[in-house]
Amino acid sequence: MAIIPLEEINNVRMHANIVEVIGSYIPLMHRGKNYFCVCPFHEDHSPSMSVSSEKQIYKCFSCGAAGNVITFIQNYENVSFIEAVQILAKRYGITLSNTISPSVNDKNARYYEMMDYAEKFFQNNLKTDLGKQARDYLKERGLDKQAISEFGIGLTLSDRKMLYRLLKGKKFTEKEMDDVALVNTHSDPYDYFVNRIMFPLHNPNGNIVGFSGRIFYESEAAKYVNTRETVIFKKGQILFNYHRAKPFIRNEKRVILVEGYMDAIRLYINGVKNVLAIMGTSLTKEQIALLRKLNVKIILCLDNDEAGQKAIYDIGQSLKKDNFEIEVIKLSGAKDPDEYVIKNGIEAFKKNLKETIKYLDFSLNYLKQNKNLHETVDLAKYINDVLADIASEKDEILIDITLKKLATDYNLEYDMLKDKLKQLETNENVKTEVSVDKQTNVKERPKNNKYIIACKKMLFYMMNEAKYVRIYQNNLVFLDNLNYREIAKAIIYYYETNKDINLADFLTFASTNERFYPIVLDIINECNEEEIDEDVFMDYLNSIQKGNKQKTIKELKESLKDELDKSKKIEIAMKIAELKKGSV
Ligand code: UTP
Ligand code: MN
Repeated sequence: MAIIPLEEINNVRMHANIVEVIGSYIPLMHRGKNYFCVCPFHEDHSPSMSVSSEKQIYKCFSCGAAGNVITFIQNYENVSFIEAVQILAKRYGITLSNTISPSVNDKNARYYEMMDYAEKFFQNNLKTDLGKQARDYLKERGLDKQAISEFGIGLTLSDRKMLYRLLKGKKFTEKEMDDVALVNTHSDPYDYFVNRIMFPLHNPNGNIVGFSGRIFYESEAAKYVNTRETVIFKKGQILFNYHRAKPFIRNEKRVILVEGYMDAIRLYINGVKNVLAIMGTSLTKEQIALLRKLNVKIILCLDNDEAGQKAIYDIGQSLKKDNFEIEVIKLSGAKDPDEYVIKNGIEAFKKNLKETIKYLDFSLNYLKQNKNLHETVDLAKYINDVLADIASEKDEILIDITLKKLATDYNLEYDMLKDKLKQLETNENVKTEVSVDKQTNVKERPKNNKYIIACKKMLFYMMNEAKYVRIYQNNLVFLDNLNYREIAKAIIYYYETNKDINLADFLTFASTNERFYPIVLDIINECNEEEIDEDVFMDYLNSIQKGNKQKTIKELKESLKDELDKSKKIEIAMKIAELKKGSV
């Protein structure tokens, strides 16, 4: 894949006016110096995102999202950095040099190419005489030619060397074949998959990264075998059908989550295209992050068995923590959405889609299972579980209705329930504050003392203008905080390689570093309103120097206490005195 030189990236960034670009996706309102809009990166109702034409950055006051025009495209379109630059270049008619240089991405490009060959090869097997049984099986399951081709479904045969020979012929090395787990090359090379119907699995960008092979005849073997984890295949980071469904999900403003490949395929080929399969009964952190980017309502439509219902409850719990709006579809008379549509038709499914229930209602019912609510102990446990569930609910009206219903249904005091809920809510808040603090999440900032504020403001100035980087360097400022020291180092590095610096371009550079990007965003969130003024900068610089000095004095005083040697004691005391005078 292309690596774009930094000058070209900055050129694109400069030409792509952020106000124009964001304005083409979301309505912007002009207010004062800035523009405002509803933030697309969290569930937002009032315009909490500001877009600065002067600084060419955006920033959300509510969720802390921030960045430049490139990161906006990256996050909004859910594309890679390079792709975002390419999208903008195309839009502004800028040609990129497209220099190819060896990189990790190039290596992946060869892997993807191999996966594409494998897909084509499997598809072809299905069309041969040896593919008859598999073809019949697929036909039996109601998958026609178009569905088979749309989902790239193929077949592996019993000859364990076919794919190996093909890839060797295409000049791929045995190591490369093994890297992506298409061929096992440890001793005598043999193909990883045999005698299975093959479903290609794509990453969010639409590259094939793995396969799932389904058994299609009587056998004791596992129903599906998936590619093992490889450099390009991480099962926990993909959602089946994501790259196909994304535009439809955005359009519909909601996504239907199902368990299996077949469930997703069935709905998709019948025109309900905003569907993803989670490929089992749990969601990983990475999968939740992918869903977060879609920024839409989630409809859980899992299997009708006990495991499926438990999965709805558990997944709902973790999604709720992330503030998703969640609804549930309960299908009756079929084990999964696939069977439901086969039995009742897609119109019946669409009717269910119109009658979704809120997740809270689902969980109130779910929690009743296996409890005898005539027994005091069970009832108390039920009420407590329900209150714990409501405690994290945001919708006040829904909370009130639920409490009233509980009070009447179980003959309890409404006020008592409300008090208990309040108690739980405070606990909940304490819990989240603690965990958020640990991660220095930008949403809820840790307590800022004067020193930290001065560090942030100073770094902010430095990101904005080269002059301040130079002043910082000339003054040999030490920052007594590892994170900020690293950001300062990055700023200096950026300045020295580019001979200049501005906020929007520095953000491009920072956004590729997962570790310090959140800290940079936090600084921007803290300081964005700041007017740049040299005197103010010097004040920050001085208060940092002063803070450092005070810390040294404090440390010296500590060591003075422990020091037994008299002459050393005097030495330390003198140092302290000097520092206090300000002569050091
Ligand atoms: P299901 O058994 O519900 O799959 O498992 P399905 O898609 O409905 O399959 P059909 O209809 O029997 O063909 C749900 C999902 O769990 C994963 C797969 O992603 C599957 O689609 N799974 C299941 C495996 O990875 N391995 C297995 O052995 C079984
Ligand atoms: Mn199923």
